[in-house]
Formats: sequence, C-alpha cells, structure tokens
Amino acid sequence: MVLRFFPQKQKYTPEETSFVFDPEGAVPKHIAIIMDGNGRWAQNRRLPRIAGHKEGMETVKKITKHANRLGVKVLTLYAFSTENWKRPEEEVNFLMQLPVDFFDTFVPELIEENVQVHVMGYEEYLPTHTQDAVKRAIEQTAQNDGLVLNFALNYGSRAEIITAIQQMAEEVKNDELAVEGITDDVVGEHLMTGFLPKELRDPELVVRTSGEERISNFLLWQLAYSELYFTKALWPDFDGEHLETAIASFQQRNRRFGGLKKEDKK
Ligand code: FPP
Repeated sequence: MVLRFFPQKQKYTPEETSFVFDPEGAVPKHIAIIMDGNGRWAQNRRLPRIAGHKEGMETVKKITKHANRLGVKVLTLYAFSTENWKRPEEEVNFLMQLPVDFFDTFVPELIEENVQVHVMGYEEYLPTHTQDAVKRAIEQTAQNDGLVLNFALNYGSRAEIITAIQQMAEEVKNDELAVEGITDDVVGEHLMTGFLPKELRDPELVVRTSGEERISNFLLWQLAYSELYFTKALWPDFDGEHLETAIASFQQRNRRFGGLKKEDKK
C-alpha cells in the first residue's frame, strides 16, 4: 500500500505555462515596467548599445498605445535610474537625448491618444535640454485625461523614500504634521507617485524584461502587493502580445493582500 500524506501537485514550469489573455478579464489599472535588455538586444546584432536604446524607444511608443487601448490607467516606465549615471558618458548622453527625440516626434500622437505625460525623479539633475523637452511634453499633454504615461527619469526608490522622510520630518518640526499622522496614506502622498489618486498610486502589475529577476531600486514602497511578472524577452522585442501575456498572467493570480479569498474562508 502506498501512503500518500500530501495530495500530488501538478508539476509545471513557468515556461510551459501558457497564459491566455481574456479581453473581458481584469486589466491592471497601473502597470510599471523595468525596461531591460536594450544593450543585449544591440550586442546580439553586433550593434552599439545605443542602437538598443533607440529601438527601446520605439517599443515605448508601441506599448504606450497598446496599454491605452487595453484600458490601463497608468503606465510607469523605468527609463533612467539614479545609478545609471555610472554608465559610459556616450551612453548617458544618448539616454538624455532620447526623451527629447521621443517627445519631439511622439507628442502629437500622444495628444491624439489622450495620453498625459508625467515624469517622476530628480529632474533638476537632468541636462537642460532634457528638462525642457520633459516640461514641454507635460504642458502639451496636460489637458488630456486618458492614460498617464509616467516616466521614472533619474529615479531611485531609496532616494525617493529618504526625500519623503525628510519632508515629513520637516512638517513635524513645523507642527504641520503629527507623528501619529504619519500613516500609510500620508507616506504615499509624499512619494513621487503621490500625484496620482490614491487608488492608482501602487502598480498592480510590475513587469521586468530580459530575464533578470530583481527590482533594482524601483517603487520599493509602492510594490508591496504588486504582482510581479518576469519575461525573457528583451525590451526592444517586447510587443503587444507580450503585454497581453503579462496581463493574462495577472488575470490568473489569486490576489489576497494578506487575507483570504471569500471562497477560502468557508
Ligand atoms: C536597460 O537596458 C535600459 C535602460 C537603462 C534605458 C531604458 C530606456 C529606454 C527603453 C528608452 C526610453 C525612452 C524614453 C522616451 C525615455 P540595458 O541597457 O541595461 O540592457 P542590458 O542589460 O542588456 O545591457
């Protein structure tokens, strides 16, 4: 007789699991993406790394439109981290020129698509031409009330949290905030996603491309309950179908926020 103490589990590997996107199913209101793999995409083609970033910019355009069509409300894209300054000067200069090219060529379409541009990060350290392009795009799309295209530019989550703590400490010192008044919501308001309505501040789904499975100082507070999705696709190869597969994976998750689903409570 074979004694079985545990029910046999169905074996699967994530690679074998095919997620089927349900157009009628839930679409995450806020999706955040770590766009990784531009350099490898270029190197695979014996091209300079910056060619990968250029192609990555085209992917940003396609994914923005696709996310908008699917009804996503906020798309946060990690475009340049506070650590990316360590890259070679030529690459940094190219990455600082990208938003200029992107907004110069794409703002008319963003307006047509009713997309509003937002940027979060330490913008004051960006070169003037980058800051100007960002400001122009924000102004030109300010009237739009569709998808929020939120670029994390010179962004780092630990720095963001430190800045928020410093602001709250200052407010406590000036008697504008009580120590007991520092709640989850108040911290959320002081973070760089604080400009968003409360229900949209935290991404429901975080995607990272290129096979790397880490968070790299991105939205550390905000992703406390986010669903994470990692794909081997390099960012320039990521397309609408990949996005739908990521959402399909999200649609299959059992989101419990530390509690239990109604049906599991019985
Ligand atoms: C990471 O890939 C990617 C970046 C550091 C830059 C991301 C920027 C874009 C996709 C373009 C953004 C567009 C706008 C409009 C701002 P990597 O270079 O680290 O790739 P690797 O790991 O293969 O070297």
